Amino acid sequence: MATNTLTVIDNRTGKRYEFPIEEGNVIRATLLRQIKASEDDYGLMSYDPAFTNTAACKSRITFIDGDKGILRYRGYPIEELAEHSNYLETAYLIIKGELPDERHFAAWQNNIKIHTLVHENIKRLMDGFRFDAHPMGMLVGTIGALSTFYPEAAHIFDVESRRLQTRRLIGKLPTLAAFAYRHSRGLPYVYPDNDLSYAGNFLSMLFKMTELKYRPNPILERALDVLFILHADHEQNCSTNAMRSVGSSHVDPYSAAAAAVAALYGPLHGGANEAVVRMLTEIGSTKRVPEVIKQVKAGERLLYGFGHRVYKNYDPRAKIVRRLANEVFEVTGKNPLIDIALELERIALEDDYFVSRKLYPNVDFYSGIIYQAMGLPTTMFPVMFAIPRTSGWLAQWSEMVRDSEQKIARPRQVYIGEELRHYAPIETRPEPTQREDAVSTEI
Ligand code: ACO
Repeated sequence: MATNTLTVIDNRTGKRYEFPIEEGNVIRATLLRQIKASEDDYGLMSYDPAFTNTAACKSRITFIDGDKGILRYRGYPIEELAEHSNYLETAYLIIKGELPDERHFAAWQNNIKIHTLVHENIKRLMDGFRFDAHPMGMLVGTIGALSTFYPEAAHIFDVESRRLQTRRLIGKLPTLAAFAYRHSRGLPYVYPDNDLSYAGNFLSMLFKMTELKYRPNPILERALDVLFILHADHEQNCSTNAMRSVGSSHVDPYSAAAAAVAALYGPLHGGANEAVVRMLTEIGSTKRVPEVIKQVKAGERLLYGFGHRVYKNYDPRAKIVRRLANEVFEVTGKNPLIDIALELERIALEDDYFVSRKLYPNVDFYSGIIYQAMGLPTTMFPVMFAIPRTSGWLAQWSEMVRDSEQKIARPRQVYIGEELRHYAPIETRPEPTQREDAVSTEI
């Protein structure tokens, strides 16, 4: 009769072990410790660099079926949310688990909007950055700095404190992001306008000039809101893992969020949208696409915006973003890079290299083209990702804080270094040979 267990036979000792298979098709890695070749043996560990097959938490927030290209927040398909919801409502869903009714939504909106201002000292902190500072670097610094303005955020087991920091972070992120942009342009900072929607206010803080009231274009405002919905959460990606891992030390959420933004900055993660536009600009013409595909296949370059650790099918967010691009171009005029992107996608999806590796466009392949059409510089693209992902980070962080199974994140290692050696006086040592793992071959 079938049982929900896994039987393991250790051929070194002939011993047999039976481990329960738990919900979600998992076995507990710590059970492997029972498997020992001798009494003083530590026991077996699983080795999984980059966590390609290790579940580090149980989560109720986001479901992905990478083979089928399915993404759901709290059970709701991303397509339905992108069509009918708005970012703040989706953020409520992600954080609280249910869609709000009218009264709760009005209160939630108000609670976020009353936290859009930042302390004036944050402005001075921004001023300290060089004019050409990357806005993601500025974001890492200023989000981390917020922890010094709200020391009570350290009370992470106090539900009221968690609620307050959550509202503050979601409220202030667009302000920090817009200030970073205005600083790089040498423009005065624009204070939040709470009459506008979340996305509309952000556009106002980015682009308002001398007009008394900024009125966002409704198509661009909606497009931005949809992009925010699409980027709100994506289960245990690199930056969310950073948020959880750093948060597991029980540090305040601002410090953990600074780590998450830093993780998002990298070109293999949230920085990919920036890398895509740089790549498309460098390619310059659809004529060069076959040559670029050849270089990718030869391992000479990456096709940024392609491939995903989890999706082995078309990223459902990329489909929506591709459609959205056309709506945005109706207002802004067509971004010529879209033709190169479409041609790259067309040729790649017919090519065995990409087909056999299941490499499809991810969310970042088209989002940067939209941001560029809206008038944003490439350095702002990862920042545009960080704003909405904040709600996902906070939901995941809060879930972790309340999870009694969680402890400080601390992976094991397989030590492959030297056995015991003894210290010798400097004058007696031979000239060192450069080792393979040396940081640099120079002194
Ligand atoms: N271009 C060319 N080849 C690729 C690409 C790509 N973009 N992505 C993966 N491959 C190849 C790898 O070289 C590898 O080939 P091999 O089996 O011959 O060695 C194979 O496909 C598997 O790829 P891995 O690197 O093992 O996949 P992994 O899950 O580790 O990486 C990642 C996923 C980081 C997203 C990768 O696909 C990549 O670097 N893509 C480009 C950067 C990017 O777009 N990042 C954004 C991801 S989405 C997000 O963060 C929002």
